[in-house]
Amino acid sequence: MAQVSLKNVTKVFANSMKVVDNVMLGVENKEFMVLVGPSGCGKSTTLRMIAGLEEITKGEIYIGDKLVNDIPAKDRDIAMVFQNYAIYPHFTVFENMAFGLKLRGYPKNEIVRRVNEAADILGIKHLLDRKPRELSGGERQRVAVGRAIVRKPLVFLFDEPLSNLDAKLRVQMRTEIHKLHIRLQSTIIYVTHDQVEAMTMGDRIAVMKGGILQQVADSMEVYDHPKNKFVAGFIGSPPMNFLQGEIIKKDARLYFDEGKTIVKIVEDMYEKLTPYVGGDIIFGIRCEDIYDKLFVSEAPPENIIRVNCEVVEPMGSEVYLYLNTGRHTFIARAGAHDRPRVNQNMDVVFDMSKAHFFDKKTEETII
Ligand SMILES: Nc1ncnc2c1ncn2[C@@H]1O[C@H](COP(=O)(O)OP(=O)(O)OP(=O)(O)O)[C@@H](O)[C@H]1O
Ligand SMILES: [Mg+2]
Repeated sequence: MAQVSLKNVTKVFANSMKVVDNVMLGVENKEFMVLVGPSGCGKSTTLRMIAGLEEITKGEIYIGDKLVNDIPAKDRDIAMVFQNYAIYPHFTVFENMAFGLKLRGYPKNEIVRRVNEAADILGIKHLLDRKPRELSGGERQRVAVGRAIVRKPLVFLFDEPLSNLDAKLRVQMRTEIHKLHIRLQSTIIYVTHDQVEAMTMGDRIAVMKGGILQQVADSMEVYDHPKNKFVAGFIGSPPMNFLQGEIIKKDARLYFDEGKTIVKIVEDMYEKLTPYVGGDIIFGIRCEDIYDKLFVSEAPPENIIRVNCEVVEPMGSEVYLYLNTGRHTFIARAGAHDRPRVNQNMDVVFDMSKAHFFDKKTEETII
């Protein structure tokens, strides 16, 4: 069994900066966990502590049932793939993949067997005699992954392994790593700052900011029910729209007033929002929950908003509209052939049952 548990794990560097703060994270056996967050939030440091490459200031790390705090990296039965691959330029692909096994004193025939097996899985068997300079970026990436899988470790740690690749190759390698996980049935902790990678690859994703874990859940849960404004804005592309305004009460009904326009709140949300009546609040709505009124047969009149269309961005399968209420700018997603004219007024409809609200001070989710 290779579950990984982090209990109150904290890292303070010599300059007394707390870069990982009391992290509690349980990764289950065979789980694909993605650690995601903006640059500098402490992802690599967390991964390096799990690998044993960085000392833990406070807290405990378990791999399986074993406390590994004092176990050196080489004895942790973990393989790590780094962003820059770190493959040896003067070695062939075979030698690169065999290196770790050689160091550990594996017999030659076992090394040959394992390297061939890994090369087969990764589709690089025909490259075994080449040197890294004779490989493309994607092939080099595969060699780095190959070097990790020949070891058959309990846990794989990946630190932004795709960030050196071009966009098309990233998408391709993303699926390959996904398939690899299914085939190897191993526990993987995968670090990235790319939320698309996180959403698509992880069984669960752990969102981190400023050394603090914000939310750990499967990707749709994080997308539909973000724990706070940061997570709501970080996961999803384009990011969630935020409009600052006030909750007002009129004839026993609640409305959100953004300064120029007012929309009606659905009754299900009254209970949680009543304490905020008369106070500032942040309203959030995703671009796919805003519709061009021309394409809505029965729009509730209270949810129709007059906006100015500032930019139309065709994406092929859909169109992003940058709309302005006079107070806020936000993005709506429209159908591929919906092309409103730029700098013209138009009406859009908010699906208020999909609205999010955040406390302005704490930025925690209200609903
Ligand atoms: N050896 C070190 N000494 C002091 N500070 C460090 C050290 N290593 C990292 N840091 C700081 O710790 C913070 C977290 O770094 P870390 O490398 O874990 O971030 P990250 O989330 O992996 O970011 P990125 O996405 O850019 O790789 C950063 O502010 C960084 O400057
Ligand atoms: Mg990093």
